[in-house]
Amino acid sequence: MPEHSGMDRRRFIRTSLIGSAGASLLAAPILEAAAQIVNTPQVQYINGVGLDDPMLVQLSINENPLGASPRAIEAVAGQMFSMNRYPFHMQLEEALAEHHGVESDMIFTGVGSSEILLTLTLAAFYKQAGNTVTGIPSYPSVPRSTEKYGGKVKRVPLTKDWQLDLPEMLKAIDQNTRIVNVCNPNNPTGQLLDADELEAFIRAVPGHAIVCVDEAYIHFVDDPKYRSMIPLTKELDNLLVTRTFSKAYGLGGVRVGYGIAQPELLDRLTAYSVGSLNKNTLSIAAALGALEDQAHVRRSVKVAKEGKAYLYKELLAMGYQPLRTQTIFVTVDVGSQAESLVNRLAERKVNVRQAFDMEGYMRISVGLPHENEAFISAFKTVRSAL
Ligand SMILES: Cc1ncc(COP(=O)(O)O)c(C=O)c1O
Repeated sequence: MPEHSGMDRRRFIRTSLIGSAGASLLAAPILEAAAQIVNTPQVQYINGVGLDDPMLVQLSINENPLGASPRAIEAVAGQMFSMNRYPFHMQLEEALAEHHGVESDMIFTGVGSSEILLTLTLAAFYKQAGNTVTGIPSYPSVPRSTEKYGGKVKRVPLTKDWQLDLPEMLKAIDQNTRIVNVCNPNNPTGQLLDADELEAFIRAVPGHAIVCVDEAYIHFVDDPKYRSMIPLTKELDNLLVTRTFSKAYGLGGVRVGYGIAQPELLDRLTAYSVGSLNKNTLSIAAALGALEDQAHVRRSVKVAKEGKAYLYKELLAMGYQPLRTQTIFVTVDVGSQAESLVNRLAERKVNVRQAFDMEGYMRISVGLPHENEAFISAFKTVRSAL
């Protein structure tokens, strides 16, 4: 299994910083300090960025294999001595507002986009009956919390080509529908809706239902015709678009996400959050640093694109038909033995997962080239052993 043997932590952080940030950052004393702080005396083998287990190939939860932007790391290091101060400021909201061309009161930052999705369902179903309309398979966060809070879920099957069935979802909406859940590109299928069709759908949803468009994977979309639904939030008061720093920005462990909607809609959600203290000094610093470094986002997208091309090629050569996705993962039909394949891979410390609600499908998050190769090599072994 590939690994960078003999690389200690200090060298590792310095190498990753040099590699991705360029020589100019090296001079920054704060980086030197950060490198010192994380230095440990014992030698560690590093496989994936951010993993201490030398043998683990972690391709199951759609993390950014490159790690965070060096600017985010530097920004966090710069805040280490301010941890005693409450973060009562709106710097992240202001930066995001500028980034997206909206007012800062249209941004609600949270503990990952998970918090936005959770407060949305709380706002809709706390002591109130009603239903959520969603596709299946699709990201289960909103439907699951809908049921947890006593709401009903209307699950509309995808079309034969794994697309959210917008006409059928529209038909499923009734006067008790409180949330219409649209994950785009969808997880676990990786498919993207046509932007015009999605916009027409959103406009057709009656005003009493909130349309939530989850754009967690939007950066990885390579269809040049596609556009985000964020601009539409300025016009429609029942539209919420969610985004995350966990994927293209590489900050899954720091937990920052946000929702964009009109202030009245956001007020309904924030009533169920910890308020502005749902953020912390370090996560704000990381997100601000990451947002400034769009070159790192582009690098991450490139790694995903190249990794997908490699996985498609290898899987096709093995006789599989992987779905072409617009995300950071590949989903592939491996048949009735999907569960044992996933388990056998896990025994070899190669973590992938069964695609939820897709019988017989495996979902592989794209890693660094050597991680993708490790997956393919282990997959060939476990497959021939079955
Ligand atoms: C489609 C989608 N939405 C939201 C999330 C939640 O992400 P986070 O809470 O890290 O922002 C995920 C995580 O994998 C996801 O796949």
